[in-house]
Amino acid sequence: MAGVTKTYKQYADSVSFRVVKGTYEVYSSHPHLSICGAGRSAAVFKLPEENRVIKVYYPPFESVAKQEYINYMKITDHPQYASLYEVDTNYIVHEYIKGKTAFQCLHEGIHISLDQIKQVDDALGYARTQGLYPSDIHLHNLLITSDGLVRIIDIARFSNPKPCRQWDDLKAGYYKHYRKAYFPTQVPKWLMNTVAKIYRSRYPNRH
Ligand SMILES: Nc1ncnc2c1ncn2[C@@H]1O[C@H](COP(=O)(O)OP(=O)(O)OP(=O)(O)O)[C@@H](O)[C@H]1O
Ligand SMILES: [Mg+2]
Repeated sequence: MAGVTKTYKQYADSVSFRVVKGTYEVYSSHPHLSICGAGRSAAVFKLPEENRVIKVYYPPFESVAKQEYINYMKITDHPQYASLYEVDTNYIVHEYIKGKTAFQCLHEGIHISLDQIKQVDDALGYARTQGLYPSDIHLHNLLITSDGLVRIIDIARFSNPKPCRQWDDLKAGYYKHYRKAYFPTQVPKWLMNTVAKIYRSRYPNRH
């Protein structure tokens, strides 16, 4: 019933998915929820009237909820990681971060500074000191706020000790191309998606 507050579990239960051409899509969700984004393992919705999101995992990835929760427990109280509020079988509730992903910044021509690259390095270094293995750092997993702070979302894969070079590769691209005169002010989405696709096929073990 509209106007009546639901529990997080009720909100999670309201979400259903369908598979279209091998990809999960949100099929239905409670009208109070507004979608923030979707990745390979989950869809994320802004919850009404509070600064929180609910990340609901697609059925084959439900166990990732617990893993992401365990990782968050190791990095509480760090300004560049979201605060976590609740976990259940197929969802987590964490802090809503108002900002744009690095992907959106490149697309819209919003400058990404050297300081912001260093912020990511520092935050990943901190995660390492907490016994985690930063992994899967790509353009959709970095949110940049209006005051220039970079927040790292999606730390589900930080418990995988297998070395991940994605962030090093992204950084190398930043130093080699981003600051050059030929680099476009706005990068078309199709181009970034094509580069990501080539990267994944050339280096299948790096993501
Ligand atoms: N805390 C948040 N605040 C605002 N938007 C968010 C938040 N968390 C996630 N998002 C949005 O939802 C998208 C998907 O979230 P997330 O990266 O957690 O999903 P995923 O399925 O684990 O991703 P991946 O494909 O990297 O495995 C993000 O790229 C971002 O646009
Ligand atoms: Mg992600």
